[in-house]
This record gives sequence, C-alpha cells and structure tokens, in this order.
Amino acid sequence: MPVTVARRTLLPSLLLAMVGAHAAPEPITPPAQIASRYAIAHPAVIAHRGASYDAPESTAAAYKLARDLGADYLEMDLQRSQDGVLIALHDNSLLRTTDVANKFPERKNQPASAFTLAELKTLDSGSWFNKAYPDRARPSYVGLPILTLDEIIDIAQSNPRHTPGLYIETKEPQLFPGIEHDLKRTLTQRGWLPSQPDRQGRVILQTFDKNSLQLLQKEMPDTPKVLLLWVGAGGMTPDKSVSFAQSGKKDKAAYYATLHPNDKTEFTQWLDFAKLNGAIGIGPSAALTHGGDQSYSDLIQPWMNTEAHERGLLVHAYTLDEPVDFNKAMAAGVDGIFTNRTRELLNYYQRPSPHTVKQVLQQNGY
Ligand code: G3P
Ligand code: CA
Repeated sequence: MPVTVARRTLLPSLLLAMVGAHAAPEPITPPAQIASRYAIAHPAVIAHRGASYDAPESTAAAYKLARDLGADYLEMDLQRSQDGVLIALHDNSLLRTTDVANKFPERKNQPASAFTLAELKTLDSGSWFNKAYPDRARPSYVGLPILTLDEIIDIAQSNPRHTPGLYIETKEPQLFPGIEHDLKRTLTQRGWLPSQPDRQGRVILQTFDKNSLQLLQKEMPDTPKVLLLWVGAGGMTPDKSVSFAQSGKKDKAAYYATLHPNDKTEFTQWLDFAKLNGAIGIGPSAALTHGGDQSYSDLIQPWMNTEAHERGLLVHAYTLDEPVDFNKAMAAGVDGIFTNRTRELLNYYQRPSPHTVKQVLQQNGY
C-alpha cells in the first residue's frame, strides 16, 4: 500500500483517539441488499428435503411439488454411495426411510455409504411415509427411489415456468472425504456454478461442519455459503452438560429448548468463523411452538440475528412449518426459512401458489 494512502487512513483515527472521540459505527448493510447482491430471494422459501410435509422427503414427488408450488430453493442433504455417486439422503442409516431391512436384512444397519448406487436404487423410499402419515399417503409414493444430485438438477431444470435454486448441505462430510470437490465437479458439469452468468445465486452451499465450510470455500469461492448453527455435539457448546436422558424432559424438543449457547461469545465466535471463511449467511436452528422432531434450540433470538446482520450475514432459520412460527421468526429478523410446507410459507410471504398441493401432485403423476 502506498505510504500516502496509509497516512490518509491513519491520521483521522489518530486524531480521534487523541481527543477521546468515538468513530461513528459502520452502517449496517440492509439484509435485503446483501441478498440482492447474491441474487438470493428475500425472504427466501427453502423447501426442506423438498415439499416433505406432503410427499416423502428427498424424493422426486417432494422436489417436483416444491418446484411447481414456487419454492426458491430445493434443499438437500448430500451423501455419497459406495461407488462414488452423490445422492440426497438425510440420515446415514437407511432404516427410517427405506425398506433396507427387507431387501438387505444382513446389511440393514450399514450406512447408506456402504451401498452402491445400483443397490440404493432398489430401495423403496416412499412407503415409510404412507405408514407414518396415513392422512397424506398416496399409492403412487410406494417404491419411490433415492435420488442422485444429477436427478435433482434435472428436476430443478424441467419446469419452463420456474427453475428453483439448489440449497445443498454436505451431510456429515467427515465421512465423505473429497465430497466438496465431487460436488464442484457435478455443479460445473451441469453449468450450475456462478461463473456461468445465468446461474448467479442459483446454488447455496450449507454445512454444520467448519472444516467442510473451509473446503467448500476453497473449491467454490464464488458460490454463496451458509454455516448451519446448532447447540450440542459438533456445534456450539451448551450452557449446561445435561444429556437428554438426565434431563427428565418428555421429548427431544422440550430438551433442546433448554439448551442455549454457553454465552454470547460462544455464539458470536461461530458468526466470526462463518464470516472469516467465506459464508454469506448462517442457518440457525429454531424452537417450534408446537414442538416435534424438528424443534431445536432457539438460535433466532433478535439479538442473535442482529449480531449476524452487523457482520453482513444473512439468517436462514430451520425448520418451520406453521404461521405462528413464521411470524415469530420474521419478527425476530430472519431473512428466509427452511420449511417442509412450501405452500404455507409462500402464502405467508404473500406469494401464493396458484395451485393446490393436490393439483400439483396429480399433474406430476402422483
Ligand atoms: O440444512 C438445514 C436443515 O436441513 C438442517 O437440519 O437435520 O434437517 O439437515 P437437517
Ligand atoms: Ca439439511
């Protein structure tokens, strides 16, 4: 840096320090402006594992439904098959969402990554949904297969009226060394990285894992990234070390609601790490009014969102499905929401879909 420039920068600061005056705080860039910089919808509708309230999570039925209802992003959890193919699946285990126990009884406890794509493709990822949610069950969900990333890209690209973006999580990336590079290769091959002009803002990368954030930044420095936040193992240190079993709480939601970051610094150092390592936002957990399996620690308190915004970070909260929680989150200052119920969130944001869930499912053959 030329000396003259340095002097110009330093002198006012020195004078201010000498007279004891305080410099005016840096103005905060409005979050909508940050979102606009990256061509991210504000507020954003992020279809969590597709429209997974009404169709089996991470299947073509769920992703096509979210796409055709008008979601801004299709969210997915990325894993890798034994033979190296990128797939969308939330759990490491296949037991909850497939019939692996029937098809591969001796291997049923093995992780998805121990199966080849051909083996994974024999599994039924739809029938569990019909059993779990009989009021939303459909015969056409029986036999739905696990999807590859390529197949989800095909889905995202195949409605000429609306192309949603992709919001891709590296799930347990420590189990999949090199998955960040594999992801870059596929997104590049498919023309979905921002160096291609019409794909600006079409991909957001997300991870709970600090190391994976750094690897994603190294592989895809120009693609927006979000650091997911969580209190507990692998995330922020909680203010108390009481396990669920010790807590006496009736369910996990009630337990998680008692967990808070150890202190303010514990929270803000995650934001600083995110910012320093190229993230454009954070993805904090939220506590749901009516509890449930996806109700976690409340990391969307107004002061937390302010801390994020002061660092120029967007806030996308997970995973909210009801207007009462949409209201709380938006009042607290979040910039987008992961939801299983795309249509409800679009309604809430006054961007109603012209189609019902039933109509879209039928149009897509479900
Ligand atoms: O990726 C945001 C949200 O999906 C995180 O929770 O466990 O559903 O992946 P999870
Ligand atoms: Ca996820």
